[in-house]
Amino acid sequence: MTKNLETFFKPKTIAVVGASKDSRKIGHSALKNLLISDYQCKIYPINPKEESILGLKCYKKVTDVEGNIDLVLISVPAAIVPRILKDCKEKNVKNVIIISSGFSEIGNHDLENELKTIIKDSKMRVLGPNVMGYKNASIGLDASFVYGNPRKGSIALISQSGALGIGMIYIANNEYMGVSKIVGVGNKIDIDDDDLIDYFANDPETKVIGLYIEAVKDGREFMNAIKRCNKPVLVVKAGRSTAGARATASHTGSMAGSDNIYSAAIKQAGGIRCRDIVELFDMAKALNGQPPALGNRIGIVTNGGGLGIMLTDACEEQGLVIPKLSTKTFKKIDEILPNLIVPNNPIDVIADADFYRYETATRALLEDRNIDGVIVASVHGGYARPEEFTGAILKMIRERKLHEEFKKPILATWVGGREYEDLVLDLKSAGVPIYSSSWRTARAMLSLYLEGLRIKKDQKKKD
Ligand code: COA
Repeated sequence: MTKNLETFFKPKTIAVVGASKDSRKIGHSALKNLLISDYQCKIYPINPKEESILGLKCYKKVTDVEGNIDLVLISVPAAIVPRILKDCKEKNVKNVIIISSGFSEIGNHDLENELKTIIKDSKMRVLGPNVMGYKNASIGLDASFVYGNPRKGSIALISQSGALGIGMIYIANNEYMGVSKIVGVGNKIDIDDDDLIDYFANDPETKVIGLYIEAVKDGREFMNAIKRCNKPVLVVKAGRSTAGARATASHTGSMAGSDNIYSAAIKQAGGIRCRDIVELFDMAKALNGQPPALGNRIGIVTNGGGLGIMLTDACEEQGLVIPKLSTKTFKKIDEILPNLIVPNNPIDVIADADFYRYETATRALLEDRNIDGVIVASVHGGYARPEEFTGAILKMIRERKLHEEFKKPILATWVGGREYEDLVLDLKSAGVPIYSSSWRTARAMLSLYLEGLRIKKDQKKKD
């Protein structure tokens, strides 16, 4: 078995077993997705009954195809899968994706074990069974049967649930976040989360790795892969409750395991556990574009006192600290605030804050050696002007120079309604990490702090 997944993600030849002319069938969608991919490669439909499908010559068996096959997608009923897998082994196929369901997730362990036996002494890598396949947005290849095109970007997603994987594509699109690859792993008889983490750790198109898991097959290997990885690894682990664990068993046939052990192990390995998918994207957004926080001391700029207090509470609950302002920073802020306001952290630039006040206060915090990260917040307080806030944020967060100069992250929070949404969308599309709640902002800042700790630990190991 080869560890390298290069031909898996960049195959030159792909066959679809169970390709069909019937547009309602999964084998039809899988073939069509390959055909409409930007990526150019040789495609072979396999179906014993057909001469051609969607304009391509059809073959009766994979062994009938002349030349090598890098990847085979299987979409035939479970009972036939072992036979097809044997053909693939005989043909020396390099990689296989088994889309078909009907294995351990419904208690059909013998059939799944049969697949394991077939691949045991081969070099073939197998994804699934019970998977959607993958989408490689980096090169424009869709090796899945499902609809939904991610934007090209640098977040790699691994999902044990196919449907959730698709949901993740749409969340990413909505948030204007780009994906490098998204892979469904299903029952994981061979290609496992640790293989994919290892691959993405070395993938130049990937900066952040996000996983949805219900269980891991080999806990030690999983944790070692996170430990080895030099990129942030975000993990949503489902099946926390007793009923959730029961649901896990019938979804992908896996045992959820002790939740506390998972939490401790992920943390120890240097990964970050997220509460849900939305939080995974909140954190990915911050980690993707912002430098890590090299300490836990956070400065807050807000035009609303209440919002500042909520952010302070949320940060402190996460173990972040909101230190008092240094004398130097106090003086800088005092100069720009109206007379009746005393500077503090959170810095209340008050409801009528303009671009200049936001920018000056934020810069003063970035310059402060007691501050490791900054949150800039705005509430639509009636006569406040949201575009002054979004303009300032846009300038500061996009301005690479600011990051290069201070190496500190900036996150944004907003509270308002529809009148604010267009402005927030402008920010999101520019890659600005902006959140609609203090809690979400604090959790995203925590991920930047944890990433800072991980980097320091790695550095220490190297020294
Ligand atoms: N080699 C190649 N093709 C074969 C074959 C063989 N040995 N034996 C049969 N076929 C063909 C069938 O004739 C059919 O083509 P046709 O439409 O031209 O008749 C095609 O393969 C598919 O077989 P069919 O019996 O029609 O199955 P199906 O398409 O209704 O269902 C699955 C097959 C795999 C989609 C279904 O069993 C399944 O598992 N569905 C769930 C998949 C899923 O949700 N996965 C997880 C996602 S997260």
